[in-house]
Amino acid sequence: MTPQRTTRPAGRGLRAALAVGVLLLFLAACGRGLPQNTFEPAGSRAERALELYWLVFWIAVGVFVVVEGLLVYTLIRFRRKPGRETPVQIHGNTRAEIIWTIIPAVILAGIAVPTIGTIFDFARDPEGDPMSIVVTGHQWWWEIEYPDLGIVTANELHMPVRQPVLLHLTSDELPNEVEGVSPVPVIHSFWVPRLSGKQDLVPGRTHLLPLDAQEPGVYEGQCAEFCGISHAMMRFQVVAEPREEFDAWVEAQRAGATAPAAGTLAAEGAELFQSFSTPAGGGSCMACHGLRGVEGAEARVAPDLTMFGARRRLGSGVFQNTEENLRQWLRDPRAMKPGAFMPDYGLSRDQVEALAAYLRSLDGGAPVP
Ligand code: CUA
Repeated sequence: MTPQRTTRPAGRGLRAALAVGVLLLFLAACGRGLPQNTFEPAGSRAERALELYWLVFWIAVGVFVVVEGLLVYTLIRFRRKPGRETPVQIHGNTRAEIIWTIIPAVILAGIAVPTIGTIFDFARDPEGDPMSIVVTGHQWWWEIEYPDLGIVTANELHMPVRQPVLLHLTSDELPNEVEGVSPVPVIHSFWVPRLSGKQDLVPGRTHLLPLDAQEPGVYEGQCAEFCGISHAMMRFQVVAEPREEFDAWVEAQRAGATAPAAGTLAAEGAELFQSFSTPAGGGSCMACHGLRGVEGAEARVAPDLTMFGARRRLGSGVFQNTEENLRQWLRDPRAMKPGAFMPDYGLSRDQVEALAAYLRSLDGGAPVP
């Protein structure tokens, strides 16, 4: 008996520690103001999804209370006591079997009505004539094109607030044929939890996803389908802004890359951007990156940089777009983002400084937020 007495408290301590750990895990999910909190929806689809969630949640709470209540009542009412007879066994009782088959079936059928209704509503073509935005998933970044506006950008999707847009989602179909760059066709998934549910981006197909934001703001999104080593670093932001701000952004994008003043460090960077060649004799930065308005910079292999200086993040929505992060990226992209297709070009310190100055000057006249 003695050994038992000494081991029991230790086992209890372990169990208590486990219980606290599990409780902390649950509590961690209760944080507020988190950027991807589906309990704070700001888009009409996310709101509909949350309404369904609460409906099912409260029905489940009702079922739990009734079932557990009956169980606890039975445990107490019929607990073994000296002299008490065993209660009547009702195994195989047809009436009871029918009742507890029918009740869950009715509950499930009841839940199916609004669920299927929502699925059909979501599948319906959006009303009116929403602005189309083509989103193409690449390893590991997002190309964002506004065909009607003649704009291509990356990783930061701007849209007017309270005005639905229609996303045409697709994925890189063919491997890019640029030296050292070989992304493969894979499936990605577009997800902005506060605005809408997920939608896959499949090579060679186009999926539609209507999107709207009811409040102005910057909404965090991410790829939600494993797509390779930097899947977790395939993030993006949706910027929902008042119409005038969106129009100003469009104008700045269409005006093209800001030309740096002669004699500045940024001008040196611009020169380097066009003339730089890789040690293997490969093309300049323009072999992959596009800059609207700059002759020869039409490539769409890598993110368009026309207004890079005004973007909030770099490396596909992952790192703050600060001078230091940008320098670090230029020095060795793969050290920041494993598997990035942009290699370490062995740029000198001066080259990094000049390119960073140039890229940061590409803000379309808008200061970095
Ligand atoms: Cu793209 Cu995961």
